[in-house]
Amino acid sequence: MKIEEFTLERQQSIWEGKVKYNLSESGVHPGSIKSLFDSEMIDIIENTELTYGHTEGSPELRSVISKIYKGSKPDNIQVYNGSSEANFVALMTLIEPNDEVICVLPNYMQIHGLAKALGANIKTINNNETTDWKINIQELEDSVTDKTKLITICNPNNPTGSVLDKQSINEIGSVAEKVGAWILADEVYRGSELDGQECESFWSLSYDKKIINCGLSKAYGLPGLRVGWTISNEKFIKNCWANHDYTSIAIGRLSDVIASYVLRKENRSAILNKTRSSLNKNLSIFKDWSEQFNDKFKYIEPKAGAMIFVNYDWNINSTKLVDRIRNEVSVLLVAGDWYGYDHYLRFGYGAKEKDLISALEIISPVLKRL
Ligand SMILES: Cc1ncc(COP(=O)(O)O)c(C=O)c1O
Repeated sequence: MKIEEFTLERQQSIWEGKVKYNLSESGVHPGSIKSLFDSEMIDIIENTELTYGHTEGSPELRSVISKIYKGSKPDNIQVYNGSSEANFVALMTLIEPNDEVICVLPNYMQIHGLAKALGANIKTINNNETTDWKINIQELEDSVTDKTKLITICNPNNPTGSVLDKQSINEIGSVAEKVGAWILADEVYRGSELDGQECESFWSLSYDKKIINCGLSKAYGLPGLRVGWTISNEKFIKNCWANHDYTSIAIGRLSDVIASYVLRKENRSAILNKTRSSLNKNLSIFKDWSEQFNDKFKYIEPKAGAMIFVNYDWNINSTKLVDRIRNEVSVLLVAGDWYGYDHYLRFGYGAKEKDLISALEIISPVLKRL
């Protein structure tokens, strides 16, 4: 399989361990095992035998996940090493050469790159600020054909933080159903809504050809566990499980144990509430800071996630600007053109509060000199 460079991840892989401040992250800053868990849980962790465990995810873990999605059963769920593996296996299971795939952009570019490498014909729908970064249903309707195999969408959205309402989700479902296309909704930011109202999942559609991918890396702030999952119809999940044997076999045994604890109803609410309160605090820090660039910055406030997608009015390409900021003050940001949207910067505001303040402070003079 020939696959193009995944620019965003490549740049993060190269630089995030080297810079002084990393504002390229899209989730909240993670905690340590000691800060997150009580002694009973630490005892469980210490006494867990490091077997392979259940390759599809333990019954306990799939059971707590299924409780998040009304009407689902553990057999609707496959657990993976991150939602990125969930995306990978879903595409590997579904896509064949010449399939038509509709990618709604901007979007985390993993699915776009994978679908292309698998030989799909990609059609893109480019959202913009005029619809608050939300999909224009008419445009989707005009784009689908009876050859459309898959419509992929990221909700809440990376990088804009926009969130679709139930009506839009139903409308997307109806468009897909009309042509028999699958929907892949990457919902890894679900649970990080700033107003505390968890958004509707595409799982709520009565239509059967839906794949919902999610995980613990963003809203839960636990990327180091590498836990993600797919929820779909049982037949698709069985096919994915067979392909999972070829990718990573199973998630880490400890990650399974910890995720089963984190996703218990009361623990899940506590962790998501913590995320939302730190995001609201940090967003106001970003907003206060950005006022000095009122004439140069335009952005729609995110409704979820730990990212702000800012359009800037300087005559410089976004990769060059990100390179300049990194070289001059050792802060890593994300360039809009890694998403195909030049003249945008993605600021991750989920960092530790004091790091966010320091990083923004040292970026200011670089921007003022432009
Ligand atoms: C939309 C989206 N999906 C998937 C991923 C990968 O996350 P994970 O750590 O769960 O593999 C990311 C990471 O940034 C993302 O933004």
